[in-house]
Amino acid sequence: MDSSNSWILFVLFITVLHCQVDGRNYRHTKEELALTNQVVINQRDCLSTETPIFIHTAAVTSGKYFERRMTIRRTWGREAKKYKMRLLFVIGVPRNLILERQLKAESDIYGDILQFNFIEDYYNLTLKAISELKWAYRHCSNTRYMVKTDDDVVMNMPMLYQLVQRKKIPSGLTGLVMTTPANREVGHKWYMPHRYYHRDSYEFLAGFSYLLSMDRLKHFLKTIITYPGPILDIDDLFLTGIVADYGRIKRNNSFRFKFFCGLDLCTMETSLVMHACSDSRNSETMYRVWKQSDTGTCHANLRLNRNRARRRGRRDLDHLENSDLPGFSFVSQTNSKP
Ligand SMILES: *[C@@H]1O[C@H](CO)[C@@H](O)[C@H](O)[C@H]1NC(C)=O
Ligand SMILES: *[C@@H]1O[C@H](CO)[C@@H](O)[C@H](O)[C@H]1NC(C)=O
Repeated sequence: MDSSNSWILFVLFITVLHCQVDGRNYRHTKEELALTNQVVINQRDCLSTETPIFIHTAAVTSGKYFERRMTIRRTWGREAKKYKMRLLFVIGVPRNLILERQLKAESDIYGDILQFNFIEDYYNLTLKAISELKWAYRHCSNTRYMVKTDDDVVMNMPMLYQLVQRKKIPSGLTGLVMTTPANREVGHKWYMPHRYYHRDSYEFLAGFSYLLSMDRLKHFLKTIITYPGPILDIDDLFLTGIVADYGRIKRNNSFRFKFFCGLDLCTMETSLVMHACSDSRNSETMYRVWKQSDTGTCHANLRLNRNRARRRGRRDLDHLENSDLPGFSFVSQTNSKP
């Protein structure tokens, strides 16, 4: 092979390495963004009294993601109506037409599927999040808050209800604030090329769940549309980090958003969202144990633990706590205390 040939090969190699390490383009095109306005399976508008919960799930009708949807419908999703919440499972378009027909059928049965016109893929989650923000603006702007969550969480509906009713959720974004170094490991799930994001770290809200107050939704959308940089394909750090910073939208930290998969009653009773049981059978067990238990003793213990934590100098980030009521009693309207 002569040297000009190997030079061409070398350039080719570098190009391939740069553009398509893992099927990603790292950023979205204008054409892709236009798809976030296109609804394939629609649902009715929100009532002003209900809080929409947008749940990211995948456009499949069997396996892990389907099981997770069914588990949510059987567990905390079943409480939604009682607590004036509304579940909406958000999906893209499957590559397979048979699946599309089955998804329509599932939507006809449950009335909780919202589908947008981009191909379902992990690296299209930014498109999914933008689609649901736009949809919420058009169909739910009469509500006070919206919730984004993944499908592998257990959500505390009575607590969410209390927080919404008592307007205890701050304006802006609320969730678990994360600070992480930018990932520079080529091929890693969250790899971010330096040319698309040059700072060394991000601060954003963990994507498994966050709340947005509707008073900031219009501004948030405007910021996304006018943001001059690349629309990156890692949804949580792009939207709740980079875009929120650019638009000066507040990120409020709450320790009630937890990485947790287990059966500790106090944790379950005092968290708003628990994330980490990737097998939905574990989430289901967690939910059932929690709901069948008497959490009364937990409250007493919890206040002790909190005081101990304070003495250790831990910063109390609990801005969601209701200050007119002692401890966490506002959580327990279904479990009366002695
Ligand atoms: C994301 O959606 C667009 C539009 O449907 C599609 O062309 C693209 O292939 C999808 N991205 C991935 C990584 O699948
Ligand atoms: C929300 O976060 C902002 C800073 O991002 C802070 O100033 C404000 O006090 C927080 N609000 C609550 C209710 O914690």
